[in-house]
Amino acid sequence: MKIRKAVIPVAGKGTRFLPATKQVPKEMLPIVNKPMIHYAVEEAVNSGIEELIFVTSSGKEAIENYFDRNQELEAFLKKNNKIEMMEDIQRIGKMVEVVSVRQKEQLGLGHAINCARGLVGNETFAVILGDDLVLSDTPVTRQLIDVSERNEAKSVIGVMEVPRETTNKYGIVDGDFLKEDAKTLLMKQMVEKPSPEDAPTNLATPGRYILNKEIFDCLDEIPKGVGGEYQLTDAINLLCSKDKVFAHIFTGDRFDTGSIAGYLNATVEFALRDKKTRKIMEEIIKEKMKSYNLG
Ligand code: UTP
Repeated sequence: MKIRKAVIPVAGKGTRFLPATKQVPKEMLPIVNKPMIHYAVEEAVNSGIEELIFVTSSGKEAIENYFDRNQELEAFLKKNNKIEMMEDIQRIGKMVEVVSVRQKEQLGLGHAINCARGLVGNETFAVILGDDLVLSDTPVTRQLIDVSERNEAKSVIGVMEVPRETTNKYGIVDGDFLKEDAKTLLMKQMVEKPSPEDAPTNLATPGRYILNKEIFDCLDEIPKGVGGEYQLTDAINLLCSKDKVFAHIFTGDRFDTGSIAGYLNATVEFALRDKKTRKIMEEIIKEKMKSYNLG
């Protein structure tokens, strides 16, 4: 079965970025000149996804508008002979088919995914958290789809190696590596923020998933968990007891742009990687190193 749909939950309150997120959705904050969500959608499209499902909440309309056409702006740019810019803007509006569903109460990531049930139907689907950006040659969602398609469209959780002493910041997976694939595990369970001594592995789950339809029954069955929210982790653990669930160590550099530190890091890194902004950022860094006596 071809994996065609991706769910991108964007209904969270983004409290770590207040007051900016009082009016602007976190996902619309820019990394250089593109909003965070642009990178997530680009990843989905480059992974072969044909339909995107946003799980939204009130005040997030800017996200849907961003992926719509803006005829007035296009006409303005054309009139002013800014053709390249106009084509860029047009491309965003034509990137992919977008539908959305509201999460009326912010009851956690698990609840947000469950809100998309009707739109996903019986298909195996991808989940992309828009505040986790991953730079890689093969988009990370594509890497996970490939593993799922090799394994009867079963669920696959994207994982990355983290330093042992930081396991208490992440969901960590436990499982056994497959004989035929040194980067893929058959999962036993996921453990939320274990101390380094208790962590079964150093493989953390930063927000990339392929899930099959069985996840929805698990989401219905789980009680509220940590923070009084329906946790996707709890549903995945239940799924592990009923069905094969894989974890795959993806290739790529991940940025946690939902946190201030990760956001700043991504801004500098993305500016350095883009040939249009690299020189500017190099100059800024040199100048700051001097004036603040750094290094
Ligand atoms: P976060 O844990 O980053 O929460 O959610 P948040 O509200 O976005 O940000 P902070 O922690 O308050 O700063 C991870 C992802 O899950 C979505 C968020 O939009 C984000 O993409 N989410 C979270 C929902 O869609 N609904 C929820 O009820 C919770």
